Amino acid sequence: MVAKKLVASISLALSLVGVVSGSTVDSSKIVTWDKYSLKINGERLFTFSGEFHYYRLPSPDLWADIFEKFKALNFNTASIYFYWGYHSPKQGVYDFEGVRDISKFLETAKKYGINIISRAGPYINAEVSEGGFPGWLTTINGTARTSNPSYDEAWKEWLTAVDKHLVPNQIGNGGPIILNQLENEYAVGLDPSYMVALADKYKKDGMDVPTTFNDPWTGGHWATGEGAVDIYGWDSYPVLFDCSHPDVWPSNVSTYFRDFRDSTNPTEPMALYEFQGGAIDGWGGAGFEKCRELTNERFAKIFYKNNYAQGATIQSLYMGYGGTSWGEIPTTAVYTSYDYGSPITEAGLMTPKAYEIKLQGAFLRDVKPFVSTTNTTAEVDNDAIRVDGIKDISSDTTFYIVQHAFSNTTNVDKFHVTVDTNDGKFAVPRKSGTAITLNGRDAKIITASYDFGSQHLLYATSDIFTHTQQDARDVLLVYAYEGEDGEVAITSSANKVQAYGTSAGVSSTLNKNVLQINYKYPHGSAFISATGKNGKELLLIVSGYDTAVKWWAPQTSKGETVLISGPYLVRSAEINGKRLALTGDTDATTNLEIVVSSAVKQVTWNGVNVSVKSTKYGTLTGKVSGPNKNIKLPDLTKSTWKYSPASPETTNDFDDSKWVAADHKTTTNPFPPTSLPVLYSDDYGYHTGSLWFRGKFKSSSDISGIKVNATMGYGSAWVAWLNGKYLGGETDIVKDFSIKQSDLEKSGDNVLSLLMWTTGHEEDWNVNDQYKTPRGFTEVSLTGSKKTPISWKVQGNLGGENIVDTVRGALNEGGLYGERMGWHLPGYPDQNWKKVSLPDTKRSGVSWYRTTFDLNIPKNHDVPLGIRFKESSSTERLRALLFINGWQFGKFANDLGPQTLFYVPEGILNHHGENTIAIGVVAVDEEVTLGEVTIEPYAKLLSGKPTVGVVNSPTYASRKSSH
Ligand code: GAL
Repeated sequence: MVAKKLVASISLALSLVGVVSGSTVDSSKIVTWDKYSLKINGERLFTFSGEFHYYRLPSPDLWADIFEKFKALNFNTASIYFYWGYHSPKQGVYDFEGVRDISKFLETAKKYGINIISRAGPYINAEVSEGGFPGWLTTINGTARTSNPSYDEAWKEWLTAVDKHLVPNQIGNGGPIILNQLENEYAVGLDPSYMVALADKYKKDGMDVPTTFNDPWTGGHWATGEGAVDIYGWDSYPVLFDCSHPDVWPSNVSTYFRDFRDSTNPTEPMALYEFQGGAIDGWGGAGFEKCRELTNERFAKIFYKNNYAQGATIQSLYMGYGGTSWGEIPTTAVYTSYDYGSPITEAGLMTPKAYEIKLQGAFLRDVKPFVSTTNTTAEVDNDAIRVDGIKDISSDTTFYIVQHAFSNTTNVDKFHVTVDTNDGKFAVPRKSGTAITLNGRDAKIITASYDFGSQHLLYATSDIFTHTQQDARDVLLVYAYEGEDGEVAITSSANKVQAYGTSAGVSSTLNKNVLQINYKYPHGSAFISATGKNGKELLLIVSGYDTAVKWWAPQTSKGETVLISGPYLVRSAEINGKRLALTGDTDATTNLEIVVSSAVKQVTWNGVNVSVKSTKYGTLTGKVSGPNKNIKLPDLTKSTWKYSPASPETTNDFDDSKWVAADHKTTTNPFPPTSLPVLYSDDYGYHTGSLWFRGKFKSSSDISGIKVNATMGYGSAWVAWLNGKYLGGETDIVKDFSIKQSDLEKSGDNVLSLLMWTTGHEEDWNVNDQYKTPRGFTEVSLTGSKKTPISWKVQGNLGGENIVDTVRGALNEGGLYGERMGWHLPGYPDQNWKKVSLPDTKRSGVSWYRTTFDLNIPKNHDVPLGIRFKESSSTERLRALLFINGWQFGKFANDLGPQTLFYVPEGILNHHGENTIAIGVVAVDEEVTLGEVTIEPYAKLLSGKPTVGVVNSPTYASRKSSH
């Protein structure tokens, strides 16, 4: 009550002084900036962010799992596109429930301490259908992303709806949102009044965090002038998207400082709102493992460290977690998986790049002077090496970022860098016969003149992971590739050095209060206890890279840093008196080594006691178990499948009286048809998935053929039948069928049935309404007989814009017979269907297959699962849809690939009960065979992940009763 009153009087006071704010405390007062960095409540933040799309993970309890992993990898921020079309099946209708509950999503981010960069479009690109626009927008009369009145009305409706969830989740209201992007890569067809209108609308709705824009290049769009945002930034995908040549890298840019921070926008921090975290892969592509190779951990070292060297202090990796473009989410060019080769895989797994990000993230979190630097001179004694110097504006701390001048090289180069210390300027390492090494593709951050804890670091010739103070001693962890030379110098008046752990050939010298420690990076970790400044102990941990990546540095809720070596994943650490409670995941029995304050005597791992021993150098060691590797999964090749033919639309007596008449003579579509009526599905309210068109015409002696010109996206296919007979199936657009008089009906109507299996709409990057490119046919005409009219009916998803499955939403279903009849849903009574096993025999037309299977994944295990299509013939072309418990989780095109394994998240899959699988197969060739279908694990982990509930998945019975 008191709190409410207080809020009321604050807002009254604000309104009296004429301040309009959507937050209890004006967010723009909390989030501020200068040319060096963002500040939250006055404290500088290196904004280390990853992109994550809630709609690509429709299992709300798994949002916690991903945010927890973000935290474990030391991301402090996530950038989120909010996807208009995911929430709006029809103009005026918006849904934010269930898998679309963005308030829950934002609250989850907050719970795990992740800030949010909000990007609510209206246009997002993002490889989603229509670049994020809803299907119904394709029929507005006017160009999107301009001031056109129809578009203006439409996007305002969206922002009104979504802002209701964003405004309360801004930082000023105690929420996670710290920044708000106004438009996405809007750099052609510029309309300043549109940008101004966006800013005004957000303001009116109460968004008061600073505004941002991501330019597709350093073009300065909306950096200054009318429509300018608060903090401008740009995108960069330096190695582009050719995943089939993962070795080919261009050289890094070195001009950001010059071109941007010191010229275009000298009062704002340098922001990379999207920086390459992986790559797009499309139909027929190389597959995401190749994209992960293209953008591997060495890419992360070289290209991310280069950004820091160039002054960036806001960097968001696109993607941090890619996820799955399930259902009809993907734009035409891409397939179901949106793994993206990201640090966290589609199945939620760690990768070498994730571990590298964890190392960088801890450095960015803990080495504070790095966030407020300006460029300074730097010298290196090898021309093959580029060195960039950056110096803290308020201390002597200087960083030297070294990389190869040619990023593509795999040469091994040795060199010395001149560092500026309070002992003077000199080249390091100083020990003769040693050098800094760049072993092929690598980059390092060398730190000099740095005060931390009670210590003064003169320099370290390799990367710092983190440092912390525990009891009276300081801990510093540095790493480099195994076998490389390491040299660390600290202020000290004693040469007291004692090495433990893996042998690293440690030696030390003391010269005028400088203690220089030399060693070689071991296969493991060496623990070097040294007496540092004012006699205070420093525990220097030096780890070879393969061991370093298994170090974790979680912070407890009280801000203590704990170091843990060994596990696949450490999710969290809490200290309660004597007890350290850790949560995490293991992929095998794992030895732990823990560096924590001496008060800690007991350790639990996921709630289970770990018996620990103390080492001579004050760490704790213990062992945690690994997963059960003998988890049984059902063998679907032994299952009985139910089969039904599913294309009655091809027969002449099929009743299409309830279908919509396709009789429009005009269209607002900017790509007009060449024959009438208009056969564009969007014009009749069908925006997703498979489409049927049935044309009826009378026989005529002059008909000699049928000309069809389709309009569809890449990966789509269409099939034609005349009077129930297969005419042909095409993946190309144009086809002339020749028709014999004997193919035509003697009396009554001829029926031409056209089925199109579509792959989503185009995007609108160029602001030219490309997203309206129709789905359907630009021409269907009878060759030889221009005069014979064809009357048309069209059918798409059941209900069109009035979707019937409001739980799974507008992007789950298309217009296949089985989808309209609910054959994809759990509980559909298929008992009268024919029993078959897979591989099946050859079938024509559309076929549906169903079976159920039980899962019984043991407690505390994380076993992400996928469904694999095994081809039985590489010459027959088919298109298939995979449904799990009614959710469409795969589009399979056997002749295109590359995807054959389809991830299905826990929650959509019931890991502890029965599941229904349904597959709709469209034969593009006259007859095709569905091959074996199997269930495969991506990994078996013993896991501390949050509990995952089963996502509400309405059954066939509920669909029937809603009709
Ligand atoms: C960017 C765009 C993103 C996404 C990315 C490629 O240019 O802003 O939405 O499309 O390219 O994955």
